[in-house]
Amino acid sequence: MKTRITEMLGIEHPIIQGGMHYVGFAELAAAVSNAGGLGTITGLTQTSAGDLANEIAKCHDLTEKPFAVNLTFLPSVAAPDYPGYVKAIIDGGVKVVETAGRNPVQVLPYLKDAGITVIHKCTSVRHSLKAQEIGCDAVSVDGFECGGHPGEDDIPNMILLPRAADELEIPFVSSGGMADARSLVASLAMGAEGMNMGTRFIATQEAPVHEKVKQAIVAASELDTRLVMRPLRNTERVLNNPAVERLLEKEKALGDKIEFDDIMEEVAGVYPKVMLDGDMDAGAWSCGMVAGLIDDIPTCKELIDRIMTEADSLIRQRLEGMAAA
Ligand SMILES: Cc1cc2nc3c(=O)[nH]c(=O)nc-3n(C[C@H](O)[C@H](O)[C@H](O)COP(=O)(O)O)c2cc1C
Repeated sequence: MKTRITEMLGIEHPIIQGGMHYVGFAELAAAVSNAGGLGTITGLTQTSAGDLANEIAKCHDLTEKPFAVNLTFLPSVAAPDYPGYVKAIIDGGVKVVETAGRNPVQVLPYLKDAGITVIHKCTSVRHSLKAQEIGCDAVSVDGFECGGHPGEDDIPNMILLPRAADELEIPFVSSGGMADARSLVASLAMGAEGMNMGTRFIATQEAPVHEKVKQAIVAASELDTRLVMRPLRNTERVLNNPAVERLLEKEKALGDKIEFDDIMEEVAGVYPKVMLDGDMDAGAWSCGMVAGLIDDIPTCKELIDRIMTEADSLIRQRLEGMAAA
């Protein structure tokens, strides 16, 4: 399939794997890229610029195809070494960067001077327009359904994507709630040039996470996620578990007075425990409502091939058949 995104990124299929903390390692990024999509290494999961350089080198060993690095700008007490990470990305010959969180204006000139394509992931039309204005090449429009941080506007993709299409000139991909051929064809119909998936790619053979994480996603329904940290304006969609219920009880009890310190136990240092050790109740970890559409653990190639084959028949048979009648 050819879209503005496949042309821009030099990939075969318009499918991107979004950056995911303690999931987006070289093994997964390379598997997605080898299957014709765009895989993404999560920059901040690597604890230093040197570690990121090594992960990028590992990914180059595993694939000849383009892959991305995610750089997330979220509120944090001690700012990560962003200049070091940017240098590792440029020196490592990475062709695409997915930025997320705050707008990437401080790092953009360095990335653009190095000829890197920048896709900014954001949750509103106004942030998408800002990304376009500062010179990002594309945006990933992340709806309310998404796993991770959906922002504070709560606009689902059925509205957000056509709104983005009405306003944006640069190409965009849909993100949040995407799982299969139906997601892709609907995204294309609403003006996107491809789709970005997070949760769906965790439940794949190559995702280097504990088997229990994959099983939890397969077992979960669309009713099993919760929004946490809304009172802190840092809303995150996570899979429900006893730690999340405890966190929500604290939010209810403390109301506006809640501070980050009050919920440290449920949110700090959770990802390595869940993703690597399979300690599923260690705390709150991101997961999308799309878990309700996930019931197998294919390889990335099986998943992407299935999406593309079924998208083709959806368009050529179901839609063309209806239009021709
Ligand atoms: C476990 C997990 C960790 C994530 N970590 C990050 C992250 O570190 N940075 C980021 O920009 N997005 C992160 N995301 C968001 C994804 O990149 C993607 O935008 C989102 O999962 C899309 O929604 P979906 O899960 O419905 O496909 C994470 C998502 C999940 C499920």
